[in-house]
Amino acid sequence: MEHAIYLDHNASTPLAPEVQEAMRPYLELAYGNPSSSHWAGRPARAAVEQARAQVATFLGARAEEIVFTSGGTESNNAAILGTWFARERSGGRIVTSAVEHPATREPCHFLQRLGARLTVLPVDRTARVDPADLERELDRDVLLLTVMHANNEVGTIEPIAELARLARRVGAVVHTDAAQSAGKIPVDVEQLGVDLLSLAGHKLYGPKGIGALYIRRGTPFEPFVHGAGHESGRRSGTESALLAVGLGMACELARREMAVNVRIRVLRDRLWERLQEGLGKAVVLQGHPELRLPNTLNVAFRGRRGDEVLAACPGLAASTGAACHGGDTQLSDTLRAMGVDPEVGAGTVRLSLGRHTTEAEVDAAAEMLVAACGGG
Ligand SMILES: Cc1ncc(COP(=O)(O)O)c(C=O)c1O
Repeated sequence: MEHAIYLDHNASTPLAPEVQEAMRPYLELAYGNPSSSHWAGRPARAAVEQARAQVATFLGARAEEIVFTSGGTESNNAAILGTWFARERSGGRIVTSAVEHPATREPCHFLQRLGARLTVLPVDRTARVDPADLERELDRDVLLLTVMHANNEVGTIEPIAELARLARRVGAVVHTDAAQSAGKIPVDVEQLGVDLLSLAGHKLYGPKGIGALYIRRGTPFEPFVHGAGHESGRRSGTESALLAVGLGMACELARREMAVNVRIRVLRDRLWERLQEGLGKAVVLQGHPELRLPNTLNVAFRGRRGDEVLAACPGLAASTGAACHGGDTQLSDTLRAMGVDPEVGAGTVRLSLGRHTTEAEVDAAAEMLVAACGGG
């Protein structure tokens, strides 16, 4: 499409050329089963283990603490269900936040149906959890704390290190969903102080269909995919050397190219300035003004509907934060938890930049959006 501009990197990212390059030989070679000890299996095993080491280095973890999964959703499910089934006792409690991705929220609700008690921490206007709210909730019944590292919709970064410190005092296992933060801000399991951490390949220029779960050594964990005991008994199913190599290279690239986020932040702020110049107070920033992913700009166009704004910009790929059914506006759970006024929230558009976004694209996107909102 002419003038196609992709500002939806929080939904998914393109495969980095270096990742494609690394994966290409594995389309043909290393077709053996990584569990086979013969000549065909050995290179596949070596590739999987090298990839595991790359993921571990990226997260500041040990290779044996990394389990490959099918993506962010599975990693979150494995973390939450795996902790619950390993530690289940009557009256056990799970604490989470009101702005989690459905891949966290739904496994928590599933366990609630199985008898878990669930506490959902509120967030402030910027989508941040207040550690004092967690502190009030903590007792020895809390088995698991699961709070995302950064929010997918508004980009707000949660105070995970502080929350983890509090939760570990009462012996809770701490999980964070880092699907959105990985590659955009530093993600180090020691600095964060977490026991479990989820990654999704396709959010960091790696392939879809693969993710990883970090499981700190010694963390109680019951696998939820049972079978022949792959991944040291933590997730059965034959590993894909092809996808593992892709995720490994994506993590290595992200580690080497962290500085690119400085450029992305400058462009993101330029986009915000252009929108403000064109629309003044008719455009509102949602999410934390500073403690936010460097690529994410979530805005509400007052008096507009996000889907209509984007429909008027056919070359622009971005997301909305509200669904409209008839005359009713249904805000996303995140926007609702932030206390966003539905009238304003209806005009929500999430613009998420990436490594390849250019200044010209940012200016063109701003121009399209301003024109779509009748400004400029
Ligand atoms: C914060 C967060 N967690 C989990 C997921 C799910 O990851 P996947 O698409 O790899 O299943 C997403 C994807 O949108 C996400 O943004």
